[in-house]
Amino acid sequence: MMSIYSKIQALSKSVEDFNIKNKEDLESFRLQYVSRKGPLMTLFACMKTVAVAEKKKVGALLNTLKSSAQKKFSEAKNILYTPSSPHEVIADYTLPVADDLGACHPLSIITEKMVQVLQNIGFNLAEGPEIDTDWYNFTALNFPPQHPARDMQDTFFLSKDFLLRTHTSSVQIRMMEKNQLPLRIITPGRVFRKEAISARTHCMFHQMEALYVAKEVNFLQLKATLLYFVQNMFGSQTKMRLRPSYFPFTEPSAELDIACQVCLGKGCALCKNTGWVEIGGAGLVDPQVLLHCKIDPQKYRGFAFGMGIERIAMLLYRIDDIRLFTENDLQFLKQFKHVSF
Ligand code: PHE
Repeated sequence: MMSIYSKIQALSKSVEDFNIKNKEDLESFRLQYVSRKGPLMTLFACMKTVAVAEKKKVGALLNTLKSSAQKKFSEAKNILYTPSSPHEVIADYTLPVADDLGACHPLSIITEKMVQVLQNIGFNLAEGPEIDTDWYNFTALNFPPQHPARDMQDTFFLSKDFLLRTHTSSVQIRMMEKNQLPLRIITPGRVFRKEAISARTHCMFHQMEALYVAKEVNFLQLKATLLYFVQNMFGSQTKMRLRPSYFPFTEPSAELDIACQVCLGKGCALCKNTGWVEIGGAGLVDPQVLLHCKIDPQKYRGFAFGMGIERIAMLLYRIDDIRLFTENDLQFLKQFKHVSF
C-alpha cells in the first residue's frame, strides 16, 4: 500500500503538471483538486488513520497542497475570465437599457393624479387592510344583518371572521376610530367582489374613498368638492350631476354622474344614449356610523365619496375593457410610456 506521504507527493505532482488551457480544463481541475469531493479531500479524510505523532506533519503537507491547488485554480480563472479586449464582453449588466424603459401602469397614473388633486385641498393619504372583518366592512357602516352584500354570493369570505374588503369605505371607520377630528382623508386601494369577469366588471378593482369629518359639514361642501375634483380630473368645463341614491352609511346619499366624455353629453353607446356616466357614490355620513366610531353626531358631521379608479381611467383613456388592466399585455402597457399627469 502506498504511504500517505507518497500519495501526497503524487497528488502534488499532478496538481503541478495539470495544464489548464481553457475553461473546460479549469472545470475539471476544480472538480479534481478544489471541490469538496475530489481526491485531495479523500486524503484529508485519511487523517483519521494517521498515527498521532505524524498528524502534524501530514496535516501541514496536506494544507500546503490544498492552498497551492486553490492558488493555481484562481490564477487560471482570473486569466480565462478576464476579457482581453472590450469585444469579448458578453453582457454588461450595468449599461442602461436601450430604448425599452418600462411605463407607469395606467391605474398608477390615474391614482397618483386623483391623490394629487385632493391633496391640494387638504386631504391626507390613508391606508387600510385588504383583508378585513365584518365590523369594518359592513356592521360599523350600518349595513343591516340581512343586507345582500353580506351574502356569500357577493363577498369573498376567507373564514367566519375575515373577508376581502368589498369597498374602501372600511378605511373610513378605522380612521375615525383612531384619529382626532377634524379629519380629511383619501384612501385609494384595491377591493374585491364576487363578480363574473367581463369587459365591464371584474372581481378585483380599485376605489378611492374620501372622508371629511368636522363640526360644520354640509351637502354644499360635498358638491363643491366633487365639482372641483371632476373638473380637475376631466377638464374645467366638465359637467356633473348628483342623483338621489341609497347607501347604508350615508344619508342623504347620491350617485355621481359626469357628462359622457365620448359624446360630450350628446348620447352614444358608452352612456347608453343618456349623455351621462356614473363614476361614484357620495353622501353625508350617517349619524349611526359616527356613533359606531364614538363620535358625537350632535357635534360632528361628515361627508364621504368613493369611486372606481378603473372607471375613471377607462373614461380618460377610452379603454373599453376592464380586463386589460390586469392582463399585462405589453402592447397595451407600452402605450402609457410617455403619459404622465
Ligand atoms: N362604498 C360605496 C361603493 O362601493 C361608494 C361610496 C363611498 C358611497 C362613500 C358613498 C360614500 O359603492
